[in-house]
Amino acid sequence: MASAKTFHFASIASLQTAQLRALLDLSATLARSKKTLRSYKNSLSGCTIVNLFYEPSTRTRASFSIAARNLGADVLDFTPRSSSEEKGEILLDTFLTLQAMRTDAFVVRHPAAGVIQQLMRRVHIPLVNAGDGHHEHPSQTLLDLLTIRLHRGDTKRLKTVIVGDVLHSRVARSFIFALQKLGFGELCLVGPQTLVPHYLQRDGVQVVRAMETGIKDADVVMMLRLQHERMRDIYLPPGREFYSLYGLSEERLSLANPKVLVMHPGPFNRGMEISSRVADSSRSLILKQVEYGVYARMAIFLSLLDGRHRGQIWR
Ligand code: NCD
Repeated sequence: MASAKTFHFASIASLQTAQLRALLDLSATLARSKKTLRSYKNSLSGCTIVNLFYEPSTRTRASFSIAARNLGADVLDFTPRSSSEEKGEILLDTFLTLQAMRTDAFVVRHPAAGVIQQLMRRVHIPLVNAGDGHHEHPSQTLLDLLTIRLHRGDTKRLKTVIVGDVLHSRVARSFIFALQKLGFGELCLVGPQTLVPHYLQRDGVQVVRAMETGIKDADVVMMLRLQHERMRDIYLPPGREFYSLYGLSEERLSLANPKVLVMHPGPFNRGMEISSRVADSSRSLILKQVEYGVYARMAIFLSLLDGRHRGQIWR
């Protein structure tokens, strides 16, 4: 399945709008029915996709593996802690070694922002970004866009609100880039000054401090986890103040559009950023997002490794 030119799924920022739309269309096609899904079951047979996750992950890793297997590919799950890097091998050499075994694609999660851009210079099989530091998480964005498309339609008409730790969130960064490409009705970031700095207010994006103001008439509310593992400083007063100011309770949600979609990339912390009642309510699409993640990731693999789709998407 080698091709003359290698394409990578590195970031939303580097995608052309038409490519993003084409990936979204393909994801939506895969979401249509089990029968459609089954018709792709041998599309990547003979391919080996290598997962390299240098950060903990449950849903993203499982989702990529299931997506690859749904297409008939073999999956190699590589655990860096038991690898040669423990013996001092540099990151690039690990990739070049695995590439020499005639593998077909890498799915990479790494704590360092920009690692994919660096690897792209030397790795000649497709790299898929599964989250690089606080930089980007483009496959999450594809599944988030798919969720909105399937449940509310075009983002151009919607008020979308992102609440919480935007500063450290690769999910939010990729998603904001995508909405700037595809268009939005309103895009509102809500949180304290330390986690939603005022400089994010540009190109039509609003920054709002009060949750009640931000969430008013919202069509989509995306809640974010506090990314403590990326905080090098103390960004929040201790205790329950964050929940009392920014937590998504039923009362606050009642200020939004009655058809509001509640989204969260997970893992979510009940009673920390979202109440259990909201997370388990019919407005919450958290588990639907997990389901759609498989279709979005199948679309990414097809676009990179299946000749037919590669030509259509990466022209
Ligand atoms: C997100 C991530 O890893 O950036 N989670 C995910 O991919 N499911 C968000 C988070 O960890 O809070």
